[in-house]
Amino acid sequence: MTILVKKSSFLQIISIILALSFTITAKTARKSTDHDFSYFESPFESPSKHAFKSRNHSSSNLEQKKSLVPIFGTECRVWSRECSEEILRIAKKPENVKWIKSVRRKIHENPELAFEEHETSEVIRKELDELEISYRFPLAKTGIRAMVGTGKPPFVAIRADMDALPIQEAVEWEHKSKNAGKMHACGHDAHVAMLVGAARILKARENHLKIKCSTVVENPISERQGPLSGQFGTVILLFQPAEEAGNGAKRMIKEGALEDVEAIFAMHISHLLPTAVIGSRSGPLLAGCGFFKVVIMGLDGNPHHSGDPILAASAAVISLQGIVSRESNPLDSQVVSVTFLNSGEDDLDVKPKRVEFGGTLRAFSNTSFHLLLKRIEEVIIAQAKVYKCSATVDFFKNSDTIYPPMINDDRMYRHVRNSAVDLVGPTNFRVVQPLMGAEDFSFYSEVIPAAFFYIGIKNETLGSVHSPHSPRFMIDENALPVGAAAHAAIAERYLNEREINISIDGLRRE
Ligand SMILES: *[C@@H]1O[C@H](CO)[C@@H](O)[C@H](O)[C@H]1NC(C)=O
Ligand SMILES: *[C@@H]1O[C@H](CO)[C@@H](O)[C@H](O)[C@H]1NC(C)=O
Ligand SMILES: *[C@@H]1O[C@H](CO)[C@@H](O)[C@H](O)[C@H]1NC(C)=O
Ligand SMILES: [Zn+2]
Ligand SMILES: [Zn+2]
Repeated sequence: MTILVKKSSFLQIISIILALSFTITAKTARKSTDHDFSYFESPFESPSKHAFKSRNHSSSNLEQKKSLVPIFGTECRVWSRECSEEILRIAKKPENVKWIKSVRRKIHENPELAFEEHETSEVIRKELDELEISYRFPLAKTGIRAMVGTGKPPFVAIRADMDALPIQEAVEWEHKSKNAGKMHACGHDAHVAMLVGAARILKARENHLKIKCSTVVENPISERQGPLSGQFGTVILLFQPAEEAGNGAKRMIKEGALEDVEAIFAMHISHLLPTAVIGSRSGPLLAGCGFFKVVIMGLDGNPHHSGDPILAASAAVISLQGIVSRESNPLDSQVVSVTFLNSGEDDLDVKPKRVEFGGTLRAFSNTSFHLLLKRIEEVIIAQAKVYKCSATVDFFKNSDTIYPPMINDDRMYRHVRNSAVDLVGPTNFRVVQPLMGAEDFSFYSEVIPAAFFYIGIKNETLGSVHSPHSPRFMIDENALPVGAAAHAAIAERYLNEREINISIDGLRRE
């Protein structure tokens, strides 16, 4: 929807439309300048990239303006409480509940690790085929980009991750993992099922995936004159590989997952929230995460001259503890943790030539995260020097092990909250605390406004109380239909409430 206008007649027509839009929405238009000018009051301010910008809206032709009669179309979709109810009703139809559980169980039985999600991907594509939903495949090896709606902007995306963990399932049940040493212990099987479930709901409501048309003008460019409304709006469903390892998100983005997309949402199961309770928060939600590995060497081979790498490493480990405890703001949670130390030798009477150690760091803001990276390196190198040693610090920057913090965009968070409250009721929505975990969804959030939210799977009767990555992890499947409905409501409502500035591109495609 980026717009390049070729002067002349187009420009004239555009200015007519702009002037017209401005006139009929004057009451709600925000204060504007000549150069940046948005026409409609909206819960979403148009992302500037997509917003139509006028260089000169004073050049409109009043006569022509009058000849174009605005029509407030009856086809306009306006989000209402009934939409939530209808979405939930579809999600909870017994046949749909049975189906969504069966999809989840099929994937649970056959867990596949990062970038090996071939059969999982095939299960998804088969379901999409049956729903007559088109998709692009493969992205990032096993990933899928499916599409429901008009195929025209605005595009809103929902993402699910597909990979399992190298863990042996310890839960004895009918649909236990059939792959030894592999398990869906992070609920990504449920994430896939809920997104496929959302695809079914959205497909059934495809004619609702339209922007709300506060302004309907006759189309002055098209041969057939007609209202412009109802021609916009697409939901992109992203099935992503390799969240747990390998950074599938980054590769999905590289391969075009976010093409045209202006906002993105994702959901994760939570064992801290009761079944089907939805939770999220504005701002920092999950930590930025990185790892480091250090090699400390005595300066030369001569044991009488060189430093002692054991002493240097010990001093460095102790000093690292001071970064978080003494340098950082106590209200801005951070972690630096050394998790291994190894001199590689067990001689009792000589000091070793080299010592290795390493660990992990976490922080909730980009600034704190990058400051930690810097200070960890400085402290280790300086301490090595004190003890006549040299040190190298590797943050694996090239092997995709650094995740930025997940910071929810405030507008997108509010959209999730409003959608969830309408869907499950105010008592079933919780504002949650940030967690030290990390998620590669944060890579999407660096590109476009994003919100990440949770759906509860905790049920004490059932025993689904274990944390993700535990071999005893399990979920209450009754959360699945609600999760599917939440995805669908968030996407549909986003489009319904996203009033659009009439674009040249939209007109051209008419
Ligand atoms: C805007 O349009 C008016 C009226 O046609 C014209 O006089 C003026 O020079 C234009 N300004 C710019 C910046 O193009
Ligand atoms: C995070 O900080 C680093 C270093 O200051 C900077 O290069 C990067 O662009 C920042 N990322 C975001 C999303 O602000
Ligand atoms: C927990 O699971 C049990 C058994 O399936 C079910 O009867 C009960 O309704 C569930 N509780 C909640 C809060 O969903
Ligand atoms: Zn996980
Ligand atoms: Zn996960």
